[in-house]
Amino acid sequence: MEYIDLRSDTVTKPTPEMREAMAEAEVGDDVYGDDPTVNRLQEIAAEMMGKEDALFVPSGTMGNLLALLVHCQRGDEVIVGNQSHIYLNEAGGMAALGGMQACPIQNQPDGTLALEDIRASIRIEDVHHPITRLVCLENTQNICGGVPLTPAYTKEVAELVHQDNLLLHIDGARIFNAAVAQNISVKELVEPVDSVMFCLSKGLVAPIGSLLIGTHKFIARARHLRKMLGGGMRQVGVIAAAGIISLERMVNRLRDDHVRAMKLADGLRQVNGLVVDKDSPHTNMVYLNLANDVKISSKQVSEKMRKIGILVDAENARRFRLVTHYWIDNIAVERTISAFGTVLN
Ligand SMILES: Cc1ncc(COP(=O)(O)O)c(C=O)c1O
Repeated sequence: MEYIDLRSDTVTKPTPEMREAMAEAEVGDDVYGDDPTVNRLQEIAAEMMGKEDALFVPSGTMGNLLALLVHCQRGDEVIVGNQSHIYLNEAGGMAALGGMQACPIQNQPDGTLALEDIRASIRIEDVHHPITRLVCLENTQNICGGVPLTPAYTKEVAELVHQDNLLLHIDGARIFNAAVAQNISVKELVEPVDSVMFCLSKGLVAPIGSLLIGTHKFIARARHLRKMLGGGMRQVGVIAAAGIISLERMVNRLRDDHVRAMKLADGLRQVNGLVVDKDSPHTNMVYLNLANDVKISSKQVSEKMRKIGILVDAENARRFRLVTHYWIDNIAVERTISAFGTVLN
C-alpha cells in the first residue's frame, strides 16, 4: 500500500531529479577535501547563510554535537530550552561525549527562551560553579508547534549572550521553514549567531545530511572532530548532489507545505473528536489533541488510520503531530481529514 505519511518531514524520499543527480555526481575522497560536489554544497550553504564556511555532516544530531564540542570544554554549561531537540532527543550526547552539563530553561509557548531566564541562568564566576559557555536556540521550535523565531528576537539573545562573552548556536534543523514563513532571507535570521546547523533531510527532501555553518576556524575544528566521531565520509558527493537540489529548488516551495498544513488544520477543526491547537500551524506542523469525550487513545486512532493507508504519529496518549512535506499533496490532505472523520465518528 502507498501510505500517506504525515509522521514527519524526515520521511521524504528523494525526487527523481535528486536520484538522477546522485547517480551522475562527480565525486572524490571528501576526507581529503577532494569531493567537488561536497565542496560546492558547502560553498552554497555558507553563502546562503552569510557565513565564512560550512561542513557537510551525516545528521542534524552530529551537527549540533560538533557545535557543542567546538564551543565548549568538558564541565562547561550549556543553556538550552527544556523542550529543545538538543536537550530531549539527542541521546544525551553533550553529556556522554562532551562532558557538558545542560542548563535547561523553560521554552515559552512561542518557542523562545525568556531573556530574563537566560540572564538569570548565566553563572557568575565562582569556584563552585560550572562555566556557562553557550546558549542554544531552536528555529523552528519543533515541540512548541513548529514556531519560527524572529530575527529581532534572535538578535536580542545574541546581544545578551555576547555581552557576557558567551556564544550562540542555532539548531536550525528547519531554519528555512522559519525564513519562508516570515518572508525573509535565512541570512537575516542567522546574522548575529556564532554557529548554525540545518538539515537537508527534512522539508528540503534530500535523503541524508545536514550542514554546520560558522567561521573558518570553527569549521576547521569541527572537521577534525567529525573525523574523531567517525563522520568523515569518502565519495559522499553521491549524497551531496541531492543536497544541492535541496538548496537550489526546495527552499521556496516550503511555502506549499505551510499552506497545506493550514488546509489540514482547517479541515481537522471540523472533525468531531479533534481539538487542533489554537494557533496551529505556524509552519509545516499541525498539533492537535483528542477531545475529552473520545474514548480511544491516540495510539489506537493511529493504528486505525494506518489500516486505511495514513501514517500519523501519536505524541502522547491524547496528542498528534502531523507534518506536511513534498510528498503530501492536496488530495492527501483531503484524504487525511476524511479518514480522521471515519475513525472518530
Ligand atoms: C529540531 C531538530 N533538531 C535536530 C534534529 C536532528 O536531526 P537528525 O535526525 O538528522 O539527527 C531534528 C530531527 O528531527 C530536529 O527536529
